[in-house]
Amino acid sequence: MASHDIRVEINGVERQAAVESRLLLVHLLREMLGLTGTHIGCDTTHCGACTVLLDGQPVKSCTVLAVQADGRRVTTVEGLEKDGKLHPIQEGFWQEHGLQCGFCTPGMMMTASALLESNPDPDEAAIRQAISGNLCRCTGYVNIVKSVQYAAAKLRPEA
Ligand code: FES
Ligand code: FES
Repeated sequence: MASHDIRVEINGVERQAAVESRLLLVHLLREMLGLTGTHIGCDTTHCGACTVLLDGQPVKSCTVLAVQADGRRVTTVEGLEKDGKLHPIQEGFWQEHGLQCGFCTPGMMMTASALLESNPDPDEAAIRQAISGNLCRCTGYVNIVKSVQYAAAKLRPEA
């Protein structure tokens, strides 16, 4: 199997790796780089637990090859907090009880992060549309929507 040398900026830090052509981005993150905040729920593009940002856009990292991230910017859930402080999205999930087991949570947060970047004041329908590719089997979606609304309010300039 051919090996490729890739460089990827991950959470603001340039990382290099020699990867097989078939290696998935989620396996690069979790197994080679130890970034286990990104979860694997299905491996078939259904659950969204593996969602990360690729150049700011949410992608399911079980469906992206590591070589496709070469020269690009990846943000994982580990990249949300700054200087030891929770990101407003993380704070929102904490304050609004947006999780139970937490398995879906990293993916939900990354999807929410991309949504709020493009739409700082989403209504409930827009939030539900944005997270429609992220499945939660235990919390239900009401508190997840509230969590995103909390973050949106906190991130708005007037807050
Ligand atoms: S693990 Fe990628 S969508 Fe489920
Ligand atoms: S919090 Fe358990 S799957 Fe969403």
